[in-house]
Amino acid sequence: MTTLLYIESSPRQQRSHSTAVARAFLDAYLARHPGVELDTWDLWSPDAALPEFEGAALSAKFAARSGVPHTPEEAAAWAEVSRHALRLQRADLLLLSVPLWNFGVPYKFKHWLDVVTQPGLTFRPDPQKGMQGLLKARKALVVSARGGIYTPGSPTAAWDFVTPYLQHWLGMMGVQDVAVVSIEGTSISEAMTQAARAQAVAEVQALAGAL
Ligand SMILES: Cc1cc2nc3c(=O)[nH]c(=O)nc-3n(C[C@H](O)[C@H](O)[C@H](O)COP(=O)(O)O)c2cc1C
Repeated sequence: MTTLLYIESSPRQQRSHSTAVARAFLDAYLARHPGVELDTWDLWSPDAALPEFEGAALSAKFAARSGVPHTPEEAAAWAEVSRHALRLQRADLLLLSVPLWNFGVPYKFKHWLDVVTQPGLTFRPDPQKGMQGLLKARKALVVSARGGIYTPGSPTAAWDFVTPYLQHWLGMMGVQDVAVVSIEGTSISEAMTQAARAQAVAEVQALAGAL
């Protein structure tokens, strides 16, 4: 069965523009692909609490990279990390909704990324070829809402560190086909927000037939 993994990283629920546009994609995509299994990972849900990435989890990562056997404490911590990393690894298609916070990703999203980016699970360092991505997914859609305007060519285009960061990270993890849809200007005016959101919904509905 094909699995679509949806990562939701705005805590604003019904008020979130990135969530609303991502859900418009899900509605359109699942209507076209009724057999697809949806796995929703709300990073702000208390049920989705991630392990702190320190102590035994951290030393387990370095042991895994250098081929040193895990201690029992590291093995337990690594089993927990692996559970999260493999939830990402096995997905066939990825949908990420990511608000722009201080020109980057929300801290819950960065926590998630630091837990799931693991040697031997989601990437393999290769001395000859560099980083080899191990994700099953070959395609991803990133939906990003932001208060300002960062469109390519605008004066503040270089201040958007979400889009280049996620394109780079997904590429390293083996996902080469990355579509990005933005909702810009949500802090500027209601009229601009509504226009940007309607445009973004139209874009993701078109992508639902293409991804
Ligand atoms: C903590 C925080 C930091 C933010 N930093 C920025 C920023 O650096 N640039 C920007 O344009 N908007 C910034 N915003 C505004 C959000 O990008 C905007 O409200 C966006 O619509 C949030 O996405 P959401 O509607 O999906 O929650 C910030 C909002 C918050 C809550």
